[in-house]
Amino acid sequence: MNWTPSSWRTFPIKQQPTYNDLEVLKSVEKELSSYPPLIFAGEARTLKEKLAQVGRGEAFLLQGGDCAESFSDFSTLTIKNFFKLMLQMNMVLMYSTGKPVVKVGRIAGQFAKPRSSDFEEMEGVSLPSYRGDIINNIDFTTEARTPNPHNMIRAYNQSAATQNLLRAFSRGGLADLNEVHKWNLDFIKDNPLGKKYDELSVKIDHAVQFMAACGLSSKQVPQLHQTNIFTSHEALLLNYEEALTKKDSEGDHKYYDCSAHMLWIGDRTRDLTDAHIEYFRGIANPIGCKVGPSMGEDELIELIDALNPKNEEGRLNLIVRMGANKIQEFFPKLLKRVRDEGRHVVWSCDPMHGNVEKSSSGYKTRDFDNILLEVKQFFQIHQDMGTVGGGIHLEMTGNDVTECTGSQSCSITSDDLASRYHTQCDPRLNANQALELAFMIGNIIKR
Ligand code: PEP
Ligand code: CO
Repeated sequence: MNWTPSSWRTFPIKQQPTYNDLEVLKSVEKELSSYPPLIFAGEARTLKEKLAQVGRGEAFLLQGGDCAESFSDFSTLTIKNFFKLMLQMNMVLMYSTGKPVVKVGRIAGQFAKPRSSDFEEMEGVSLPSYRGDIINNIDFTTEARTPNPHNMIRAYNQSAATQNLLRAFSRGGLADLNEVHKWNLDFIKDNPLGKKYDELSVKIDHAVQFMAACGLSSKQVPQLHQTNIFTSHEALLLNYEEALTKKDSEGDHKYYDCSAHMLWIGDRTRDLTDAHIEYFRGIANPIGCKVGPSMGEDELIELIDALNPKNEEGRLNLIVRMGANKIQEFFPKLLKRVRDEGRHVVWSCDPMHGNVEKSSSGYKTRDFDNILLEVKQFFQIHQDMGTVGGGIHLEMTGNDVTECTGSQSCSITSDDLASRYHTQCDPRLNANQALELAFMIGNIIKR
């Protein structure tokens, strides 16, 4: 009722920048809204259908990517490594679960960050916190930290170029099943994990050869030659999202947020009476909402009904992010209530955001064992409840960084973190750690 792309503006809102020059802001919003959409509404509907399959247990959701994309780390290699990693994890999960994998990147728009504090203090100086490259700059100077509306234009352009390359890789031959060996990343190739992936590629090769002998080669069957990686991000900065919200003139004439296929609401901005819920209820994309330990059972049902009043399958993904030491206490009662009330949701597990710690070397990190422990409990709880654990939501990169500790494949210690700690915000799994986790998740689900 009474929803418009701008109706969120009359609601209370959290985690927003304070722009100094509102005239500049207005002119940027106007310019952005004249730009072409980054996705087509029909693609968002396709993703919704696929997520409906995930919700029924017929497919698996793999969502992952940067905590925060940045203007400085924008390169072909970063995108290509991410793409290859997604395909590798896809293979591992598909092979072990026997189900199609719905691939959604935290990419091509993941620029805005909620922060625990509005100000950051360093040596007695206090400046506004860094809120992501779409808003301000990470350098600790007054100029850098001042929110600049023009960053939205740059974020749009970078998202468009990223999206373009993802589409090119998906359709241009890199995703061909005859290329599975080539997806192995250089720094993984020679370690035991790379070898394990190689063994899997040999099996896939045999299957592909067998199908070719049956007359089904990748030349005739597009599924063997192409793939699809959908895009997603946290729709935190609603000025940007509103500008890219368009009515679908070809299909169902509903409004879609055309900045990405899927958008989600963060755990800190999901208050029922706030602006983000108002904005999200009116867009027809598949959407997500983070669910942390502070979520109440009644509150969750109200939230589901606000965002998905028609109880449509594939519309709403609840992304559970409790922490390895909290999930057992807080998640089962929420899951039971949603199950008993018959609401259709896609449940996925974000084992990253509840497991942040400060390492002895001073870096913000996450330990692989805690990540794995939360994942295991998530799927076990679903099994006990007779419900569907639909997928996984990760902060990861295809690059060889040292941001999270642990794992067998690279056993990073607290002292190693300094070597390649590149994240703009939260620590990400590197390619080794993410692939290792995919093998483990495959085993957990198979069991
Ligand atoms: C995020 O996904 O980067 C994030 C900030 O998560 P959450 O809203 O769960 O804290
Ligand atoms: Co994060």
